[in-house]
Amino acid sequence: MSFTNSSLMGFLLLLSFSLIVSLSSGADTITANQSISGDQTISSKDENFELGFFKAGNSSNYYIGIWYKKVTTRTIAWVANRETPVSDRFTSELKIIEGNLVLLNESKSPIWSTGLNSSSSSSSSSSNSNSVIAVLLDDGNFVLRNGSNSTEPIWQSFDFPANTWLPGARISYNNITGRKQLLTSWKSMEDPAEGLFSLELDPIEKQYLIKWNRTTQYWTSGPWNGRIFSGVPEMRSNYIYNFSYVSNINESYFTYSLYNPSIISRFVMDVSGQIRQLSWLNATQQWNLFWSQPRTQCEVYDFCGAFGSCRQSGLPFCNCLTGFNPRSQSDWDLSDFSGGCVRKTVVQCGRTSEKYGFLEISSSIARKPPNSTSLPLSSSSECKNTCLNSCSCNAYSYENNACSIWNGELLDLTENSNEVMIYVKVASKDLPSNKKNNAVIIGGVVGSIVVVVFILGLVLFLIYRRKMKNPGKTSVEGSLISFVYRDLQTATKNFSEKLGGGGFGSVFKGTLSADNSDVAVKKLESVSQGEKQFRTEVSTIGTIQHVNLVRLRGFCSEGSYKLLVYDYMPNGSLDAHLFKDEKCLNWKTRFQIALGIARGLVYLHEKCRDCIIHCDIKPENILLDNDLCPKVADFGLAKLVGRDFSRVLTTMRGTRGYLAPEWLSGVAITMKADVYSYGMMVFELVSGVRNSEHSRKFFPMHAANVLIGGHDDVLGLLDPKLNGEANVEEVMKLCKVACWCIQDDEESRPAMSQVEQILEGVLDVNMPPMPRSLQLFVDNEGNDVVFYTESSSSQTSQAQSNPSSGVSQAKSDSSS
Ligand SMILES: *[C@@H]1O[C@H](CO)[C@@H](O)[C@H](O)[C@H]1NC(C)=O
Ligand SMILES: *[C@@H]1O[C@H](CO)[C@@H](O)[C@H](O)[C@H]1NC(C)=O
Ligand SMILES: *[C@@H]1O[C@H](CO)[C@@H](O)[C@H](O)[C@H]1NC(C)=O
Ligand SMILES: *[C@@H]1O[C@H](CO)[C@@H](O)[C@H](O)[C@H]1NC(C)=O
Ligand SMILES: *[C@@H]1O[C@H](CO)[C@@H](O)[C@H](O)[C@H]1NC(C)=O
Ligand SMILES: *[C@@H]1O[C@H](CO)[C@@H](O)[C@H](O)[C@H]1NC(C)=O
Ligand SMILES: *[C@@H]1O[C@H](CO)[C@@H](O)[C@H](O)[C@H]1NC(C)=O
Ligand SMILES: *[C@@H]1O[C@H](CO)[C@@H](O)[C@H](O)[C@H]1NC(C)=O
Ligand SMILES: *[C@@H]1O[C@H](CO)[C@@H](O)[C@H](O)[C@H]1NC(C)=O
Ligand SMILES: *[C@@H]1O[C@H](CO)[C@@H](O)[C@H](O)[C@H]1NC(C)=O
Ligand SMILES: *[C@@H]1O[C@H](CO)[C@@H](O)[C@H](O)[C@H]1NC(C)=O
Ligand SMILES: *[C@@H]1O[C@H](CO)[C@@H](O)[C@H](O)[C@H]1NC(C)=O
Repeated sequence: MSFTNSSLMGFLLLLSFSLIVSLSSGADTITANQSISGDQTISSKDENFELGFFKAGNSSNYYIGIWYKKVTTRTIAWVANRETPVSDRFTSELKIIEGNLVLLNESKSPIWSTGLNSSSSSSSSSSNSNSVIAVLLDDGNFVLRNGSNSTEPIWQSFDFPANTWLPGARISYNNITGRKQLLTSWKSMEDPAEGLFSLELDPIEKQYLIKWNRTTQYWTSGPWNGRIFSGVPEMRSNYIYNFSYVSNINESYFTYSLYNPSIISRFVMDVSGQIRQLSWLNATQQWNLFWSQPRTQCEVYDFCGAFGSCRQSGLPFCNCLTGFNPRSQSDWDLSDFSGGCVRKTVVQCGRTSEKYGFLEISSSIARKPPNSTSLPLSSSSECKNTCLNSCSCNAYSYENNACSIWNGELLDLTENSNEVMIYVKVASKDLPSNKKNNAVIIGGVVGSIVVVVFILGLVLFLIYRRKMKNPGKTSVEGSLISFVYRDLQTATKNFSEKLGGGGFGSVFKGTLSADNSDVAVKKLESVSQGEKQFRTEVSTIGTIQHVNLVRLRGFCSEGSYKLLVYDYMPNGSLDAHLFKDEKCLNWKTRFQIALGIARGLVYLHEKCRDCIIHCDIKPENILLDNDLCPKVADFGLAKLVGRDFSRVLTTMRGTRGYLAPEWLSGVAITMKADVYSYGMMVFELVSGVRNSEHSRKFFPMHAANVLIGGHDDVLGLLDPKLNGEANVEEVMKLCKVACWCIQDDEESRPAMSQVEQILEGVLDVNMPPMPRSLQLFVDNEGNDVVFYTESSSSQTSQAQSNPSSGVSQAKSDSSS
């Protein structure tokens, strides 16, 4: 008996297995009498997407979701039952019941449904509801159709996005029902339930907003001006994406498509509170993040929760204030900081004030935590006492003769500049240094003096020993000086004179006491590397020396403090000379600057031991010495802040006009990305205006037109401040080189060594074809000009990036 039973079981198992296989291979449709359960899935026709049960990370909950089938790391693009997981996927099923798609849980209760009120199904005509089918399409849309011939979906997942915005989907506002289609972050990396961060459309201002807890706005795209969102000017050069905004009396929405449908790209409202755009990189088999807003993590409202503090420099971004613990350590470990922190020792009313002390936190005036109450008190000590004596007071601040008291939770605390001090009430025993009586303090002081003297002696002894072993070098790494943080603090007068804020951190002017020389000190933000790696990387940068590269003199690495010390360049950066009315570089200098930068880049690209891609060539990163000789700054830093270049992009600010198109397409970045940025900058050397800021024309296109058209008004391209005083041949040469550098196809761009040779007069240059992406820019009347000429451009070996095939495919897709 038992034998037959088990063989029957085996047969059933085999049967169910073959059922799974038959469903998961091929089928893209769920019909009225089919269901999805266990490991069964359906796949879209071209196998782009797959739908079935999944679980996120280590959680034991299962959800119905859609993921990319061709992407090797499981990436969920849509979730059905975000709030209502099941724990056993084999006894749960997704099926069509009376014209609706319904998810039944283990006890066959409906826990998620498409929730349609079909008038026909209520008339219990079973033939009608039988005709309803669910199809997973190749764009990732899961649609419910009334009969296989019907094209209008009666329900579609694109109308109910989770955290991902796929090409072809819309983020919309329905003007009739008032319904907003939100993109909502997951709660944590393991929980797709709705998190606190959401992206929505504001149809009045025609802009996108990111909000915290659906109410507090902390980012906006800026209004749509017909072509771009004003706060997202980099859209202008996105020729890979076809964005459009539609607004009529019924609805407003924004949508996009890809000209080349083989590119896999998505927007996601991330658990970090940032909207991110990622492309799948075939070369590395990774998602490549190339755009995200807000730019830095701490700009996200209340990212670290109540009594948490966000610090941009140094990972992790979120820490509980001293005296506080995470409300939920497990959530915290999953990067869900929304729960914030709670006191280790609860503040109790009616106790004497001596039990409490204050923790000093620096904040900026612009980003003071919300929900404070102002009190008319005339001194800091009154303000402090008021807080001490009120048991609901959690913190106070006193600035500009105004006392602010926080009675509720302290939200959105970002530690940065020293503009305002916020004093957080903490039980004395949880404070780091208890203020004991004077005797103890004196004892402590004496004790620490002894310790300091001892350490000093030890250090001197060590230095002496090193000198004996290695005369001439004190604490030196290669040829670099290893600085002490305290010394740099003194040299920069406590970082008071800011020279600029680059992509990797702010730069301050300083004077070294040793030789009275001026230096530029860069405070690196969010260095993710360990101590040893950091030193290795820095000493590599230290060996890179060239007359057209800014020299690194030393560094400092103390705990989370990571600083680099460079030669100080008295003439500042190129942008300050180029774009200011009161300054004017003559033509000869401009030409020499173009040549000098080319030489610096040739060195980085071809002459160093490891080829270095700069990734952020722009006028801000070109410094000028006393003789206006250009020096490239900020090279080699990408590795310091993270392995992949994506971090570079998310941390840079003014790079919009200089970004090569391949950054957006998801292919690996090569040296030719620098060549592109160089070309864009050379156009600016000629015109004296940022390419993105010409009022009526896009300068590179204008210049290329003038040169291609054989117009003789080449000098008309010139910066008007030069009054036509320039060498015509050189102007033409620079414009041609620039146009060659900004070809869409990186293979078509020259190497920097070729550029150098042309500028030196060793090599000749013909007029290169007009880059296709330029043809997408606006015309003189400010209208969108979209034309796809095959042009004279010889389509070289790069068949897969053939633009015209991409366009025609996109068109045929949209017609289906
Ligand atoms: C499923 O339903 C279709 C029509 O609704 C019918 O033709 C088919 O026989 C059914 N299949 C099974 C296995 O019941
Ligand atoms: C899942 O759990 C294992 C072991 O408990 C752990 O090593 C792993 O890091 C966890 N994965 C995630 C994504 O949390
Ligand atoms: C299924 O859902 C129903 C309704 O929500 C619930 O009462 C029931 O406990 C669930 N069953 C299981 C096994 O979770
Ligand atoms: C469906 O119908 C019920 C009652 O007929 C109504 O309360 C509900 O709002 C309707 N739902 C939708 C989505 O139209
Ligand atoms: C489906 O189509 C049939 C005929 O075209 C129609 O009678 C029925 O009402 C439709 N059902 C739904 C749910 O829209
Ligand atoms: C659906 O289309 C096919 C062919 O296009 C046709 O034979 C069939 O009759 C159509 N079915 C319905 C219900 O219209
Ligand atoms: C979000 O807002 C709701 C009210 O809309 C409130 O109940 C909830 O506590 C808020 N969440 C947080 C984390 O403050
Ligand atoms: C761009 O998108 C619009 C609106 O979706 C569409 O009409 C147009 O055909 C698209 N252009 C291309 C070249 O795909
Ligand atoms: C939305 O509808 C109202 C009238 O109901 C109309 O006044 C308004 O212009 C519409 N909004 C848009 C963006 O068309
Ligand atoms: C708005 O909706 C109405 C009713 O559905 C429709 O008749 C009209 O054509 C729509 N208007 C636009 C501009 O789409
Ligand atoms: C990436 O690889 C897949 C599979 O090999 C291919 O179909 C796709 O075209 C490639 N995408 C790009 C952008 O090269
Ligand atoms: C805190 O301030 C925000 C605005 O900054 C406001 O929307 C919210 O209601 C306030 N919460 C409390 C508890 O006062």
